[in-house]
Amino acid sequence: MAKIKKAFFCTNCGNESTKWIGRCPGCNEWNTYVEEIISKENSNPNQSTFKDFSVKTKPVKLTEVKQNDISRFYSDDPEFNRVLGGGIVPGSIVLIGGEPGIGKSTLLLQIALSLKDLKILYVSGEESVEQIKMRADRINVKNDSLYLYSETCTQTIFEQVKAIEPNLIIIDSVQTVYSQHILSASGSISQVRECAGEFQRLAKETNIPVILIGHINKEGEIAGPKLLEHIVDTVLQFEGDRNYTHRLLRTIKNRFGSALELGVYEMKSHGLQPVINPSDILLGNRDEALSGVAIASTMEGMRPLMIEVQALVANAVYGNPQRSSIGFDTRRLNMLLAILEKRGGFQLSNKDVFLNLAGGIKVSDPALDLAVLAAIISSYKDEEISNNTAFCAEVGLSGEIRAVSRIEQRIAEAEKLGFDKIFISRYNAKLPKNKFSIKIVEVGKISEIYGDLF
Ligand code: TYD
Ligand code: MG
Repeated sequence: MAKIKKAFFCTNCGNESTKWIGRCPGCNEWNTYVEEIISKENSNPNQSTFKDFSVKTKPVKLTEVKQNDISRFYSDDPEFNRVLGGGIVPGSIVLIGGEPGIGKSTLLLQIALSLKDLKILYVSGEESVEQIKMRADRINVKNDSLYLYSETCTQTIFEQVKAIEPNLIIIDSVQTVYSQHILSASGSISQVRECAGEFQRLAKETNIPVILIGHINKEGEIAGPKLLEHIVDTVLQFEGDRNYTHRLLRTIKNRFGSALELGVYEMKSHGLQPVINPSDILLGNRDEALSGVAIASTMEGMRPLMIEVQALVANAVYGNPQRSSIGFDTRRLNMLLAILEKRGGFQLSNKDVFLNLAGGIKVSDPALDLAVLAAIISSYKDEEISNNTAFCAEVGLSGEIRAVSRIEQRIAEAEKLGFDKIFISRYNAKLPKNKFSIKIVEVGKISEIYGDLF
């Protein structure tokens, strides 16, 4: 009788161990190990399942590698091409992660429908072909070379790949497929790792690009982040608040381009619409100035984004004042409040402070600091800041206003959107004279901004 082999895996990073351990030596997380059945005695998971049409590779000289080996496929969607660093690279393997219902299947079906010159195999382990057809009808684009396939066994999928010989394969999702070489259930760590490995070998040996859709676990990482990140060439993350219509597609890792790219979409009734001017939808209505609101000129990767920061400062009813923020790091908020108290002389220790970035997006750009301070001061004094003023600087622990990267691009975005004044750091590199018509106020300390603000 075949002997069953079991092992323990870390759910965070995929580390393997023969026994249970409390703390993972790979990622130092506690209590992440689970037991899984991995294989029968005589199966070899590294065996190639598509060896019939795999090409035997041998070492080649660098000078002999042909450039046209990397001619990309371009989709109709400029945002998708951008996050991939240009287009889909043949033989590459791309992972797209996101929460359920965010629009991953919609996005990839749209991409598949737009690539009319290519033969595409869209494999779904989650939906029947009829369900996919319904979605395609909603998107309302016709494509004769798109094959839909509802299947979950990787070996069966490879047989169809051999039969159809597609130019691109989409797997929806990597958590629903399983390999016969592994006994554990689909979605388990060993199964996900094995399937991703098999698709990677398929992509490399046949030069057919593979796009994997992955679900995000409760910590917001794709099935243990480090688990698949090193297997695939590109990792994209699809995110957004389901209560809003816009979605962000970020590059987390890219072997064929910059990892700082960002794509913006809006979910409409007929699919996802690329957004060329994201600041427009994030800023919303600017007719009336309100206290506690300040606009920041930030950068997400390589793209400038104007974001509305909203603060509310209120008397604390209970002993311990509350500090909470949505979309902004709470520790950074606490730090900025301490700076305001110590360097600005504001009495905040008996105040509740709430902070919110409008539009439900998360930003970690330090250039947001000055707008956060301005919004808090505005709410504290209950005096509004002109709605044509923007902010863009980092704040240091001693209350100094620090320079940020790509300042010209940030100022240009504020100017383009009709702002007439922007506060920046005095320590930025000298700006070219007469380049901007927007009034630029250079400040060095937080105390310098009050005079000009109200
Ligand atoms: P879906 O692509 O199924 O999400 P995922 O694959 O990430 O789980 O999309 C889910 C949501 O998108 C669903 O709630 C309906 C909405 N949607 C639209 O608003 N417009 C559309 O044209 C389509 C196809 C979906
Ligand atoms: Mg889906």
